[in-house]
Amino acid sequence: MGIVSLEPMLLKAYKNGYAVGQFNINNLEWTKAVLQTAQELNSPVILGVSEGAAKYMTGFKVVADMVKAMVNSMKITVPVALHLDHGTYEGAKLAIEAGFSSIMFDGSHYPIQENIEKTTELVALTRKLGLSIEAEVGAIGGEEDGVIGGGEVADPKECKMIADLGVTILAAGIGNIHGKYPANWKGLNFEVLQEVNRITKGVPLVLHGGTGIPDEMVKKSISMGVSKINVNTECQLVFAAAVRKYIEAGLDLQGKGFDPRKLLAPGVEAIKKSVKEKMELFGSVNQA
Ligand code: 13P
Repeated sequence: MGIVSLEPMLLKAYKNGYAVGQFNINNLEWTKAVLQTAQELNSPVILGVSEGAAKYMTGFKVVADMVKAMVNSMKITVPVALHLDHGTYEGAKLAIEAGFSSIMFDGSHYPIQENIEKTTELVALTRKLGLSIEAEVGAIGGEEDGVIGGGEVADPKECKMIADLGVTILAAGIGNIHGKYPANWKGLNFEVLQEVNRITKGVPLVLHGGTGIPDEMVKKSISMGVSKINVNTECQLVFAAAVRKYIEAGLDLQGKGFDPRKLLAPGVEAIKKSVKEKMELFGSVNQA
């Protein structure tokens, strides 16, 4: 099947009241774990790649080629999108050139007029190529790969202005934060989400910062137009904990336990378990 645009996948989710997970990938193990789980659960899936992760994997082209080859060699038949996460204006163009099927242009830190101008240009480019584009209004809190957001709550009128540019999906800050949520977190702002959904009707919404949001809030957000939920930190945490446990048990010192394929296996299994739980929570199982 190859990699696909987000548009049909997320319009279907929006219409039918579930969300598709975006799981950020860091390497081959991550990619394999997410793809395997999606196939096992017959769920559509979005592989998210930040510019930092792409740099770590030595470039957008390496990532695009790896993902396409793995989708092929693993005989993946569920829809898979390869999506640039929090792309810059320049990065978005490079990811498109390298063969990504979808981009996010994060212009939330620009004044709204500049966000509109740059988003307009990238909408035209992606539309011409049959790719999908996510735009953002109201920076997501916390830090991800050097992209720091203040956790703003988006202005629904600005959301409408960006949605009207023809973006495929829209990320609106509603108090969500990348990484772990602080103990005094106020929760998601559902009033704003409801208003954004009302005035951008027809455009699926994106919830960033999917790690640590209580299940009930996740479900409520899906009922208010959220059709894509991004998860990154959670997979990192469970991977690290599982590999730590393996090493602390001294298993790397037994026989060929130092073999990276053995050493990283518990981490991969932990990612698969988390991805499965999220797909079940989001309702994307059997929606391929
Ligand atoms: P978390 O790292 O909090 O899961 O957020 C992921 C994300 O929003 C990627 O854009």
